[in-house]
Amino acid sequence: MKRYTLVANWKIQLPLNESVSWISNHKKELINLGNQCELIICPETIAIAPIHALLDSKKIFVGAQNCSKFLTGAFTGEISVHSLVDAGVTHCIVGHYERRHYFHETDEEIAQKCLNLATVGIIPILCIGALTNEHSLSETLEKQLHHLKSFWVPQRQLYIAYEPPTAIEGDQPAPLSQIIAVEQSIREYLSPAQIQFLYGGSVNSDNAASILAIPGVDGILLGRASLDFQNLKKIVSSLPKAS
Ligand code: PGA
Repeated sequence: MKRYTLVANWKIQLPLNESVSWISNHKKELINLGNQCELIICPETIAIAPIHALLDSKKIFVGAQNCSKFLTGAFTGEISVHSLVDAGVTHCIVGHYERRHYFHETDEEIAQKCLNLATVGIIPILCIGALTNEHSLSETLEKQLHHLKSFWVPQRQLYIAYEPPTAIEGDQPAPLSQIIAVEQSIREYLSPAQIQFLYGGSVNSDNAASILAIPGVDGILLGRASLDFQNLKKIVSSLPKAS
């Protein structure tokens, strides 16, 4: 049976103390959710190490929301992939629309971050998405993957999250037909790389099951819906059972 991936992107919505109490309040139930899916909690960077220590479980993964494009050196304020490994990180979101838009990250820098992560054994969750019409969508997304494709080897694990910018923090996910079309064209473009394909943007407990029922979709990336534990639990219980 397919094991779906659920990525909880907490952004900076829960400060350190709240993040840690969220985990300690729901620890037992969380581990139970981790038996039903691959659950990756991505808190603010400063909360990663205490949450990892608190969970002390192989059932729940702790992810990061960003990393430096530099491996090491004199780069004040950056977070290296080496420190993420030491803190217990197994996955890292890269190239989220908010990073591209507010922090002007380029496709080249994002590809470099993916490579740094792969070097230390962290799985990149590479976000792609574009403000464009359906006709040119695949072309634009392929442009975002172009740098990565030139050096990515199939042995490296890679998650791709398709997140249309208009759906992020919006009220409507992309139409299912669009998710299907993007999933197929991205797999084809990146072949022979083995990718886990995720969808993100306005996913909630009402629409998660229909998105996950698409055969090529391996998981979802959740923003707002991951902040409320009951909501998260509802989403896990709605995962398609037999696939
Ligand atoms: P949302 O955010 O689920 O709140 O729309 C998704 C994201 O930013 O990845």
